[in-house]
Amino acid sequence: MRHTQANPKKQHVTKGILLSGGSGTRLYPMTLAASKQLLPVYDKPMIYYPLTTLILAGIREIMIITTPEDQAQFQRLLGSGEQFGVSFTYRIQPKPEGIAQAFQIAEDWIAGSPCALILGDNLIFADGLEHMLRDAACRPHGATVFSYQVRDPERYGVVSFDETGRAVDIVEKPINPPSHWAVTGLYFYDERVCEFARQVKPSARGELEITDLNRIYLAEGTLEVDRLARGCAWLDAGTPDSLMQAGTFVQAIQSRQGLLVGSPTEAAYRMGFIPRERLIATGQKMAKTPLGQTLLHVAAEYGPSTL
Ligand code: TTP
Repeated sequence: MRHTQANPKKQHVTKGILLSGGSGTRLYPMTLAASKQLLPVYDKPMIYYPLTTLILAGIREIMIITTPEDQAQFQRLLGSGEQFGVSFTYRIQPKPEGIAQAFQIAEDWIAGSPCALILGDNLIFADGLEHMLRDAACRPHGATVFSYQVRDPERYGVVSFDETGRAVDIVEKPINPPSHWAVTGLYFYDERVCEFARQVKPSARGELEITDLNRIYLAEGTLEVDRLARGCAWLDAGTPDSLMQAGTFVQAIQSRQGLLVGSPTEAAYRMGFIPRERLIATGQKMAKTPLGQTLLHVAAEYGPSTL
């Protein structure tokens, strides 16, 4: 398994945005009084899953963007980030005016660095995910996105590839999708991202579209589109059905294999971000749960780089 200290490549992307605003209207009435990204996916709050993905990418400076009314709850759950060996900065998106708006909101914090972005309702599980994430975080130039074959591409940004497998176009929510390859909610950008995001104009539905930002990199020839393989799972838990499916999926893997999915504490230990004592402290706090018991098992059995 890869491990921060063992990775010989230079990590360029060290900052990441966890975008957790939005209105969650497809989950009404569950989201009338609670943020979608705080709803449970089996045994953890939804935001733990994309947070784990950022940690596995080696990202330690994380901005959490929420709606004004939900910010306090996220701060209560996640704190300063110390428990995961990372640093959280909180910001508000007053209205859901598009995913690419994250780069306007975070521009002074990004301060001309490369930056990743993950949507707070996106869950990605893949064999070798850490390798893919670290490769993307180590790319010095351009942008990397991930695409996944879905049955209903018209709901997403859709990529077309040429015969050599190179991405040639991306269209947002097309009525006649050119392929079944949807762009997932995980993006890595170089240090020009805010400059490019400023060029994005609101779409017909009034949003700053992430697809338009990706198209700027595509036009320049610096957009890498990694295709997630058949055995991978990408779930966005934005509807009652997909929320239920995501929970069932996590339950099946955890109970069958005894491994944790979407635990930022375990990921932080594995990456060398927190010492064993902190893993044990979190495990003890949750010792009445299978999650806490698994953390204690991990602390007893494994060193950080052997997981
Ligand atoms: P969506 O699922 O497109 O929107 P939503 O969460 O508001 O839900 P619904 O369609 O049911 O009303 O958003 C995808 C993710 O991106 C989700 O985690 C919310 C986040 N998001 C923002 O934080 N701000 C935004 O302006 C948008 C468009 C999305």
